[in-house]
Amino acid sequence: MVTAADVLWMAETIYLYLPAYLANAAPVLCGGGSPLDGGRTWRDGKPLLGSHKTVRGTLSGIAVGTAVGLIQLAPLRGLLLAVGAIGGDLIVSFFKRRLGMEPGAPSPVADQLGFIVVAVALVSVVPPPPTWERVVAILVVTVPIHFITNLFAWLLKLKKHPW
Ligand code: CTP
Ligand code: MG
Repeated sequence: MVTAADVLWMAETIYLYLPAYLANAAPVLCGGGSPLDGGRTWRDGKPLLGSHKTVRGTLSGIAVGTAVGLIQLAPLRGLLLAVGAIGGDLIVSFFKRRLGMEPGAPSPVADQLGFIVVAVALVSVVPPPPTWERVVAILVVTVPIHFITNLFAWLLKLKKHPW
């Protein structure tokens, strides 16, 4: 049976990683302008990241995540979660481009979990490290959170694709 204590623990888990979620969401609202990769291509001749990954989106994500951490009185956590989330998303994009996938093409699992895996890994270097239960919980709950928030962003015409 799910108890009130379980629900509270889950809410606390989401709260602990909130800077990563909001860092990942910020570029959807604030992105645009010059591409982060400067239009450069990799050895395969394909874009390094793609023109949709922008300087403004990247900086806004790091700023928003850090600001959330500051509000939570955990600025270093906020910064690490933000850099991890934005970095994880960029790593996924880099590999998608290597596989010849167009920007926005769905890449199940990587699209949903790439940002949070790197965010959790990076923030875990600062003691105290999270328990395994916490890590598993955040990875599992990120799948529906990502799905629902992206669906809403798409319905609100903020995103081109619902994933
Ligand atoms: N964005 C940005 N800068 C970033 C990350 C994202 O400007 N560093 C913007 C993108 O332009 C995109 C939106 O935020 O319109 C959502 O990003 P995301 O869903 O990660 O992009 P995808 O379309 O899924 O691209 P990819 O195929 O590379 O995963
Ligand atoms: Mg994506």
